[in-house]
Amino acid sequence: MKFFVDTADLGEIRELAATGLLDGVTTNPSLVAKSGGNFLDVIGKICALVPGPVSAEVTATQADQMIAEGRKLAAIAPNVAVKVPLTWDGLKACRALSQAGTKVNVTLCFSSAQALLAAKAGATFISPFVGRLDDIAQDGMQLIADICAIYRNYPDTIRTEVLVASIRHPIHLVQAAKLGAHVATIPPDVLKKLVAHPLTDKGLAAFLADWAKTGQNILGS
Ligand code: G3P
Repeated sequence: MKFFVDTADLGEIRELAATGLLDGVTTNPSLVAKSGGNFLDVIGKICALVPGPVSAEVTATQADQMIAEGRKLAAIAPNVAVKVPLTWDGLKACRALSQAGTKVNVTLCFSSAQALLAAKAGATFISPFVGRLDDIAQDGMQLIADICAIYRNYPDTIRTEVLVASIRHPIHLVQAAKLGAHVATIPPDVLKKLVAHPLTDKGLAAFLADWAKTGQNILGS
């Protein structure tokens, strides 16, 4: 499973990129606004920090303008993935941009029917928002299960990767991995929670306490 981080905060990205565990980054207009930086400048800096796909979302709503914005975003760096919303105009823009060789992440997906359309439009990634479905008492992870099952029926024609978005906690990630989703885009705070377990901390403390009693030092003479 590929781990993307879901943020436009350069400090967070720099810190997490240093772990060597980041396979990409996703942003959206809200995350960019939160970062406070100039959009094109921030995307360029993110692309320099993380070699994997960096999603940058268009803000136009008409296909021709989406395509123009997408071309400008794609020109920032080779690892830009242009994000478009799951609308008819977004699908038309996806078709045009993907046929020109641009990676496209179709976002704001909330149904399997939408995910099928995105695959037909040549999307590189489809972004179903699990947390926002859970927020309205619909089963976000069931959508992931359905999309993965549908895509698996067409291995020769569907190359679109399921990029699970709107992740709210570590269990979303584990469930997505069990379902075989290709990518999870994880908020920084959730990503940092993945490593934590009290028994790991307790066990390490006990190992180190016992080791200290030996008076030995691995790097010592
Ligand atoms: O990548 C999409 C993600 O940022 C949306 O998350 O928490 O606003 O539903 P959220």
